[in-house]
Amino acid sequence: MTSGKKHTVRTLRKMKTNGEKIVMLTAYDAPTAKFAQAGGVDMILVGDSLGMAALGYSDTVPVTMDDMVHHCKAVRRGAPDTFIVGDMPFLSFHLSEEQTLLNAARLIQDANCDAVKLETDHSTIPVVKRLVEAGIPVCAHIGLLPQSVKTSGGYRIHGRKEEEAEALLADAIALQEAGAFAIVFECLPASLAKKITESLDIPTIGIGAGPYCDGQVQVIADLVGFFTEYLPKHAKRYADLGNEMKNAVSSYVDDVRSGTFPGVENATE
Ligand code: KIV
Repeated sequence: MTSGKKHTVRTLRKMKTNGEKIVMLTAYDAPTAKFAQAGGVDMILVGDSLGMAALGYSDTVPVTMDDMVHHCKAVRRGAPDTFIVGDMPFLSFHLSEEQTLLNAARLIQDANCDAVKLETDHSTIPVVKRLVEAGIPVCAHIGLLPQSVKTSGGYRIHGRKEEEAEALLADAIALQEAGAFAIVFECLPASLAKKITESLDIPTIGIGAGPYCDGQVQVIADLVGFFTEYLPKHAKRYADLGNEMKNAVSSYVDDVRSGTFPGVENATE
């Protein structure tokens, strides 16, 4: 953020009012969080994309509360002055109200996150309300919900059909009324994201939802080129760190094998 002070839910809302774009980026470890903070992001999301981006899973479903707490703590150590949102993983907010509150409290109290994020639809609106009543800031998430792809029919744009678009608008308004401080839109048509953004007072943060949201979120691995095989249409690669890392490792391998490294300058007597 420009003033150098950590955001609050109020300053984030003010950015929407002032027409300033909000920049969110994922991070899963302390060094990445440090660079994200130094690069000037407004918010860091410790997303359950952790599963694919750092833990080697093929989707987000295997990610546990313990995984999230562990990585949120690391991110907080790397970015002490940034607003951090910790993702509630698969089934962590469905079993009971008590379990949901205890899980959210682990992210807020143990890992020192500023807010939690939940993949939401009409059925989870009471959960958002309960968390907010308990003093926990909630970022909602609508559209493509990766934790539910097995029931929703895979990775696709949501809200192309009129009744689906109307339901998404109604859910977004209800989530705002339930107390969510922001909503992530994942994979919505740009025109629908614009319409919902204009209907809400709280900020909307898009990924694959076009340019008219109040802010944007991206997965760091896409941005810096860690996923070398595939770049989603909604992402942009700003660096090629995957290939740089591979080249660095093969230079190291060559140097050790040829006796070039370590040299006398790297040795101590
Ligand atoms: O887990 C994640 O990184 C997310 C973003 C894609 C919004 O939920």
